[in-house]
Amino acid sequence: MGDETNGPGSSLRRILVTGGAGFIGSHLVRRLLRLHPRVEVIVLDALTYAGRRENLADVLPDPRLTFIEGSITLEADVSRSAAGVDAIVNVAAETHVDRSIFGGDEFLLTNVLGTKRLLDHVRATPSIRYVQVSTDEVYGDVEAPTRSLEGDPLAGSSPYAASKSAGDLLVLAYARTFGIDASITRGSNTYGPFQFPEKLVPLFITNALDGLPMPIYGDGRQVREMLYVEDHCAAIDLVLHAGERGTVYNVGAGVEQENLETAHAILHVTGAPASLLAHVEDRLGHDRRYALDCSRLAALGWSPTIAFDDGLRRTADWFAANRAWWEPIKSGAAYEAYTSRAYGER
Ligand code: TYD
Repeated sequence: MGDETNGPGSSLRRILVTGGAGFIGSHLVRRLLRLHPRVEVIVLDALTYAGRRENLADVLPDPRLTFIEGSITLEADVSRSAAGVDAIVNVAAETHVDRSIFGGDEFLLTNVLGTKRLLDHVRATPSIRYVQVSTDEVYGDVEAPTRSLEGDPLAGSSPYAASKSAGDLLVLAYARTFGIDASITRGSNTYGPFQFPEKLVPLFITNALDGLPMPIYGDGRQVREMLYVEDHCAAIDLVLHAGERGTVYNVGAGVEQENLETAHAILHVTGAPASLLAHVEDRLGHDRRYALDCSRLAALGWSPTIAFDDGLRRTADWFAANRAWWEPIKSGAAYEAYTSRAYGER
């Protein structure tokens, strides 16, 4: 989809992006400011760990951006950041499957209760347009050649997927019961600059750059659709402006690839040796294959524009040039505690 499709003509004037200092959120904020010159953006972000003020460093000085540190789980934070907005895009979420397997409450608090707080605000202010950013993981894994459709049952495998499903169901329930103007996007695996280095692509790129092992879960033949973050944000922007109320939109890259193929592509782009590939114990409940049918979004005018090779090159170049962003993360005590818990027993 060309940037001009839903460009300067935005009818929205103030947009709240919750989780706007996270990976997808920060790209979305940049896009909204760049393509909609009359739009003001408010970011509400709890800055837990993947949300980082520095993700927005280049746009923070923009007078059209207001940054508020706070949580979507707190009514007071929601009402002060949503005051006077025309739209809310909820990108705030706990997203990492392996962390959800540890069993903490934060997935339910943020992804379910936090969503409810936002929906309650919209219910009280029904002129607000609402977009919930969700995930293909809510469908659970599907066997080839099936591709998940928006009306398919929700059958997620991980606590993370269950919490996102609950959030999605609440959005649809509020749309039906209270008539709020809400849509949902369900994106496939997204990658790009600023992604926290716990996810496959940034973990493997940064490990490759440092000559560290790349831990492949199980046989590495699991299938994912890798979507470049800017394509994903174009889809969210389009659904925000042109999506139908009460409607879900799948957002997939359209190209299926096995994790091993992704790992080999990362070896290629970083010039690292294949000896870094290390098969480790599989993830519990590991989904074998996700694949989305995106015809509904295609009918709105969206299609992915950045091929994996191109997106991966941009991403790897960004990580190579921005060690100052990720080295402090990876050498921090919290990250080390996470990796020793997630990988130590493997
Ligand atoms: P991930 O980036 O965690 O996303 P998701 O679980 O939402 O798909 O993982 C993508 C795939 O890569 C998934 O099949 C799990 C696998 N994976 C590994 O093999 N090793 C790793 O260290 C990680 C983080 C993921």
